[in-house]
Amino acid sequence: MKKRLLSLFLTMGLTASLLAGCGSNDAGNAGDSNTDAAKEETAENADSSEAESSDEGGIQVGIVLPTKDEPRWLQDQAQFEAILGDAGFTNQVLFSQGSSATEKTNVETLISKGIKVLIICPQDATAAAAAVEEAKAAGVTVISYDRLITDTEAVDYYTTFDSFSVGVAQGQYLIDNAKGTGVPLYIYTGAATDNNAFIFFEGAWSVLEPKVKDGTFVIANSEKAAGFVGAGELSRDDEGEILGQTTTNWDFDTAKKLAEANLTAASAEQKGDVAILAPNDGTARAIADTFAADADIKSYIITGQDSEQASVQYVIDGKQSMTVFKDTRTLAADSVAMALAVLNGEEVETTTTYNNGKIDVPAKQTDIVVVTKDNVQSALIDSEYYSASDFTGLE
Ligand code: BGC
Repeated sequence: MKKRLLSLFLTMGLTASLLAGCGSNDAGNAGDSNTDAAKEETAENADSSEAESSDEGGIQVGIVLPTKDEPRWLQDQAQFEAILGDAGFTNQVLFSQGSSATEKTNVETLISKGIKVLIICPQDATAAAAAVEEAKAAGVTVISYDRLITDTEAVDYYTTFDSFSVGVAQGQYLIDNAKGTGVPLYIYTGAATDNNAFIFFEGAWSVLEPKVKDGTFVIANSEKAAGFVGAGELSRDDEGEILGQTTTNWDFDTAKKLAEANLTAASAEQKGDVAILAPNDGTARAIADTFAADADIKSYIITGQDSEQASVQYVIDGKQSMTVFKDTRTLAADSVAMALAVLNGEEVETTTTYNNGKIDVPAKQTDIVVVTKDNVQSALIDSEYYSASDFTGLE
């Protein structure tokens, strides 16, 4: 009964007030404490949480996230634990630590614990297909979380942010803030194993490409991208070629090394005042630090996404120009609402579909918010995602 009521509560649009109870401190502090917890764990795929056994026994909702090494996913973990725990549902969060093999083992572990719903953010979009096919075969409902699992029919639902808009917002920020013409543009992208990396790039390219064509920007670090200017709509293979030259693999170190190599190869005209498309916050900080250390870079503007605490501090300090806020409270709540609807045998609310190469997956999409120095307070503090004391120098 409690569960049915909660499901009603969530679907009646009262999610926000439920979430207010697990606001900013949960997002910030839970990330910190989980980082500490992560250090103490020895097994890579060790559980980070297991709620107490329900009257039915076993685990009802299993959650698999890509890595503990990026604060982004610790924020998601904190939200899941808060919402599902409060709702009285047994749940377990496992991390794949960058390995599709670990991810598959995690899914198998959760199946053996009797999960009814699997919420999974794939490490590798195509490799995860085999894992979710096993889950489906065991009668589990599969929700692809944030990243779409591709080339399989074994995905029931997808919860996501509007990833195309993330890329558009990043590109548009550079357009609105670049001064003059002929501005060197450095392009960095996410991991080619992540469907989102393509969508972010497509969004950014949709606005940046015309501005390369008209001479506002000159691409400085990717001959492939430069070669596709004026070529019209890009195929996945075309995009794959650009990602091949610009990928950070979502890894700080790879991002830093690529930025260093790009700056070593750059001519004098490719330095000075530059614009940098960085795909997310972790890579943005690594790339920003590298550009800041180059004596021939006079100024840079750089994008990001996730509103990780460290990047919000960078934005306040003027070291990162913007970040895109993707409210993990909403995404986790939408996924939990879906899971509860499934568990209660109710209709699942979706708003759109995403084609994963095999099927149109019913999806729920969430909006994003652009954050600069000017709206850190209203977007992130007033909404209780963080508290003011998490930062220094906030006006
Ligand atoms: C997520 C981003 C995240 C990136 C790296 C993407 O799929 O949408 O929020 O920064 O993966 O983990």
